[in-house]
Amino acid sequence: MTFLFNSDPRRGAIFAEAFAAELPDLPFAMDAETVDPDAVRYLITWTVPENLARYRNLEVLFSIGAGVDQFRFDAVPAKVKVVRMIEEGIVRMMQEYVMLAVLALHRNLPAYLAQQRAGEWRDIPQLQARARRIGVLGLGQLGEAVLDRLKPFGFPLAGWSRSPRRIEGVTCHHGEPGLEEMLAVSDILVCLLPLTEETRGFLNADLFAKLPGGAALVQAGRGPQLDHAALLAALDSGHLSAAMIDVTDPEPLPTGHPFWSHRKIILTPHVASVTQPATAARAVIDNIRRHRAGLDPVGLVDRSRGY
Ligand code: NAP
Ligand code: GLV
Repeated sequence: MTFLFNSDPRRGAIFAEAFAAELPDLPFAMDAETVDPDAVRYLITWTVPENLARYRNLEVLFSIGAGVDQFRFDAVPAKVKVVRMIEEGIVRMMQEYVMLAVLALHRNLPAYLAQQRAGEWRDIPQLQARARRIGVLGLGQLGEAVLDRLKPFGFPLAGWSRSPRRIEGVTCHHGEPGLEEMLAVSDILVCLLPLTEETRGFLNADLFAKLPGGAALVQAGRGPQLDHAALLAALDSGHLSAAMIDVTDPEPLPTGHPFWSHRKIILTPHVASVTQPATAARAVIDNIRRHRAGLDPVGLVDRSRGY
């Protein structure tokens, strides 16, 4: 019975140390070439390896990241549990990123950066936080954690999910009708949805038209959710005021793409949140213990929903 680590060896060394201390009975391998494929019960990876079928006794496939849209589910036998990464490091970094983005947009930073480059010293009327409404798409581990961090600032907070949710201090919406209600009151819209067939192309012209005039966007979900041309049109018409974008399609963004130099866009290269190996190793170890005890791992993916 072996755990196979198929990712960056520097992260692997940290995982190996934690596994040796916490699960000394479970051999830990980082070299797929030398491991006995029949011994592999657990595999952690970013993408599904081409030769997954060789691991005939695989029981759990762990994603090294929070998202699982990069997995080809049809290549993974139905008996294998697919688990996304839920660990405190990812959550903390996403909380930081969304605070950075929301405060930057709330305090007109894209416009001030453009003014700085133009040598222009001019104040822009500033709304108080209580008058800036925030809407978060996705109330999963990240959406809820981000809303929790936003609470002390005093922004009116709303969130949207597929199923009904109750979160103290947050107006929760769900489903199709709930989406329109939330968009209508989102001066800053934060996307933390997983990429699925339903959310591909979700941030499009129709959706932008339902936001209040002057609204801003934070996109930290997945690149293919955003229609680039629609965002550019909404920014250029003035309907949207600014955007902070962490994920694009494709990645990296090609040289010369308008996002690189748009005065209303702040762009980061998919760095909002990154798996932290020490805390991630602890989370995976806990999940292996749960699996061995006959319990479902935390972060078990529902393949029919795609997340
Ligand atoms: P999660 O816990 O699975 O939560 C997903 C949320 O989205 C849930 O609230 C779910 O609703 C909602 N949702 C999914 N499909 C929906 C739909 N069609 N309509 C309405 N709501 C829908 O995911 P998470 O851990 O918070 O992560 C979210 C995503 O963030 C990841 O999948 C990944 O793409 C992205 N991410 C990005 C970075 C980065 O660096 N930019 C880092 C980590 C993660 P229910 O509650 O009803 O199920
Ligand atoms: C990063 O984007 C992740 O899914 O963890």
